Amino acid sequence: MSVPGSEQNPLRVGIVGAGPSGFYAAEALLKSGQTVRIDMIERLPAPFGLVRHGVAPDHPKLKEAIAVYDRIARSPEFRFFGNVTVGRDVPVEALAAAYHAVIFASGAESDRRLGVPGEDLAGSYTATEFVGWYNGHPDFRDRVFDLDQEVAVIVGQGNVAADVCRILAKTVDELKHTDIAEHALDALATSRVRDIYVVGRRGPAQAKFTAKELRELGDLDDADVILDPAELELNAESLAEFEERKGAAAKKNVEILREFATRPRSGRSRRIVFWFLLSPVEIVGRDHVERVVFERNRLSGGPFGQSARGTGERTELAAGLVFRSIGYKGTAMAGVPFDARQGVFPTRDGRITDETGGVIPGLYACGWIKRGPTGIIGTNKPCSVATVASLLADLPALDPAPRPGADGLPTLLGADGRRVVSYDDWLVIDQMEVSRGSPKGKPREKFTSVDEMLEVLGASRR
Ligand SMILES: Cc1cc2nc3c(=O)[nH]c(=O)nc-3n(C[C@H](O)[C@H](O)[C@H](O)COP(=O)(O)OP(=O)(O)OC[C@H]3O[C@@H](n4cnc5c(N)ncnc54)[C@H](O)[C@@H]3O)c2cc1C
Ligand SMILES: NC(=O)c1ccc[n+]([C@@H]2O[C@H](COP(=O)([O-])OP(=O)(O)OC[C@H]3O[C@@H](n4cnc5c(N)ncnc54)[C@H](OP(=O)(O)O)[C@@H]3O)[C@@H](O)[C@H]2O)c1
Repeated sequence: MSVPGSEQNPLRVGIVGAGPSGFYAAEALLKSGQTVRIDMIERLPAPFGLVRHGVAPDHPKLKEAIAVYDRIARSPEFRFFGNVTVGRDVPVEALAAAYHAVIFASGAESDRRLGVPGEDLAGSYTATEFVGWYNGHPDFRDRVFDLDQEVAVIVGQGNVAADVCRILAKTVDELKHTDIAEHALDALATSRVRDIYVVGRRGPAQAKFTAKELRELGDLDDADVILDPAELELNAESLAEFEERKGAAAKKNVEILREFATRPRSGRSRRIVFWFLLSPVEIVGRDHVERVVFERNRLSGGPFGQSARGTGERTELAAGLVFRSIGYKGTAMAGVPFDARQGVFPTRDGRITDETGGVIPGLYACGWIKRGPTGIIGTNKPCSVATVASLLADLPALDPAPRPGADGLPTLLGADGRRVVSYDDWLVIDQMEVSRGSPKGKPREKFTSVDEMLEVLGASRR
């Protein structure tokens, strides 16, 4: 039997997840010079993962990556199977049997826990659920956020925290022409949130915002940025970091923060306050968040290795809302080894490994489920390319028997009554969303439930 990759025996690959990493893996396979057939399986009817449901609605330029994915999806060698959850609707074992190789690109759909008392009180939310809600993700559309509170604390100082902060601090006029979900725009229109504390456990030089996202927080129509200049006194290790190339981004951030600190209050109706070197140790309230207790930290360790150490000193803030934006986390999938501590599928050079560290032939991973929840959209491209390089290097060793692909998986063919969504179906839903948005001056009005999307196709859910 010939090595898969020829006209007689095309290399059949199943890709699980239609986010950036899945599409970049498909692109690398299409460019490999092999004869390939790619089936991408996605649990939602809509493709594009966090580009659709994570990237902030007021950052439309960042969604332009979708044009690249659309081109890939229109390739004759590519098929999309939406509304199918791998590990539930299709067992991983069945998938492994139907393809020469399976690439998992299922992202990181859960979130890290703070592990402090009161974390689950009403009024304490994860960024994951808030982001999913304002972006119209079907899993989160029914969440209710108590925006009657005046003081909100955002824990974490990464770009997701910046997104959450902007959405809370922007006026309806700044959001109404974006693709924000209608339910979120309606709720934000009556929000009483006025003071937003963005709190980092380490210092200003360790904040993970990128400069553009940080600068933007100082550029909102109706929000002042507030920063005590004393917060910007840096230790010798942080100053040493600035001297090196990899410290340039942090140096830029501190320059931006210094400029924020010089600004007088202009009396705008909302305030964004930056606090550093504080870890929440308890979220307190009878049946709703009433205040957050923080422990003051000091930095410990050398340049680029500084971690937060508690000093024992405590301070607290009266606040009715907490958003924990401390990182996403991958979730397990039945039939695939899982590193529960890191929230990733264990891999070596993109090859999935079992508990003994041995490679499982034919199973690969890329993107956030491989690396963990860091990196921008573009970071996933080299990650997926590297995984596909491993797959191609393995070709001579893979079982060469021809595989049926989706034709061997009755669920993907809708045999059990499930309405599987093809890429052409998605284009119908997409067009309908754009039409719904147009009268409101929005790029689209997303459907926020699977049923609504299937109704557009004249089908009911299964
Ligand atoms: C809130 C937020 C905002 C961001 N904003 C930006 C930004 O502005 N610019 C930027 O460059 N980067 C941004 N990023 C980072 C970027 O979104 C990620 O780097 C990227 O989406 C990761 O790609 P991925 O394919 O690994 O995962 P995802 O994008 O999460 O894609 C995973 C896909 O797998 C599907 N899936 C999961 N489980 C299954 C299953 N069992 N069966 C079938 N399908 C499944 C999911 O539904 C999803 O569609 C943001 C991230 C977040 C969290
Ligand atoms: N516009 C954009 O380009 C954009 C937008 C959104 C997201 N993204 C990307 O998506 C990725 C994920 O973003 P993210 O913001 O979720 O993650 P992130 O950049 O890793 O930031 C997480 C933040 O949470 C803090 N944190 C972690 N554990 C904590 C704990 N136990 N207590 C208190 N604070 C804690 C971290 O502090 P430490 O530093 O001390 O760990 C950090 O400030 C990033 O690569 C980001 O750049 C990009």
